[in-house]
Amino acid sequence: MLLKSRRGWELPERAATPEGAYMNRREFALAAAAGPILAAAGPALRAFAADDPSAKLYPVKRNEKYVLDRNLTDEKFATSYNNFYEFGSHKGIAKAAQALPVRPWTVVLDGMVEKEQTVDIDTLLKAMPLEERLYRHRCVEAWSMAVPWSGFPLAKLVEFAKPKSGAKYLRMESLADKATMPGLKEFWYPWPYVEGLTIEEATNELAFLATGMYGKPIPPQNGAMLRLATPWKYGFKSIKSIVKFTFTNQRPKTFWETLAPNEYGFWANVHPAVRHPRWSQAAERVLGTDEMMETMPFNGYEEFVGEMYPDRNNDPKLFM
Ligand code: MTE
Repeated sequence: MLLKSRRGWELPERAATPEGAYMNRREFALAAAAGPILAAAGPALRAFAADDPSAKLYPVKRNEKYVLDRNLTDEKFATSYNNFYEFGSHKGIAKAAQALPVRPWTVVLDGMVEKEQTVDIDTLLKAMPLEERLYRHRCVEAWSMAVPWSGFPLAKLVEFAKPKSGAKYLRMESLADKATMPGLKEFWYPWPYVEGLTIEEATNELAFLATGMYGKPIPPQNGAMLRLATPWKYGFKSIKSIVKFTFTNQRPKTFWETLAPNEYGFWANVHPAVRHPRWSQAAERVLGTDEMMETMPFNGYEEFVGEMYPDRNNDPKLFM
């Protein structure tokens, strides 16, 4: 197994890891317990869904093809234990994230496309076939959750954007709004948050753009208005609050890859046998419970995505 040694990284420790990799069991349980507190303090959080002009679109019909091997994570945990560094480099950002300006929300489709365009989110929501999918989510920090996302296949957006044949990658960019995102003051991060997929990955049936969760519009802390779900990859690939999709023939340099390339690679496919340089990926803590589960190759989705990675048995780089 390829084990790269860590570089003498000049960043603060917490800047170079999207996590509490050092978080012990007790801290995890305490963080999870913050859920009910937020829920109790949450009229502001709940008001968001009611005011959202897209609220009436949900719930949407579940696509039964994608099944879980575990219980769904309780909504209060999934919506109160978050990674969204634009609002702070800790898990308790849900309240701060309510400042996210969700309207107007436009999405730019540019680069190697037939015609560059900017689409309003509500127009896009009407044009896309919304469905619900139950997906596992495995964070690189070795915790996991299972969420009912609503949204549409990323392949549908690719089709809508009409990329040129030379486009090999899709680069995605999050909103970076200094006025509402205190994390942007942490200048050592390479804002905006950027992620990327190959076009083959972006058009794989599993790649999904979430616009809702738990039968409601997706809340700001989970990535309103548009958030990627690639359940076979580590959670940092699931870029939140996307405002731009760029079709390109250059592999995009991602946010975490720029910060710590030896720890968070471009591929980031989940694998229990490929260690993160600083911790094991063999098992995961199930958010909101005291349970540990064994991690599965490709997070259990190998049947859908394995063929995209013919080198998967020989190239550990695919799993970091
Ligand atoms: N997207 C943006 N823009 N900013 C972030 O900090 N964190 C990533 C991902 N998407 C992140 C992001 C990480 S590390 C994870 S695990 C998931 O979002 C967390 O999603 P959740 O808060 O819905 O659990």
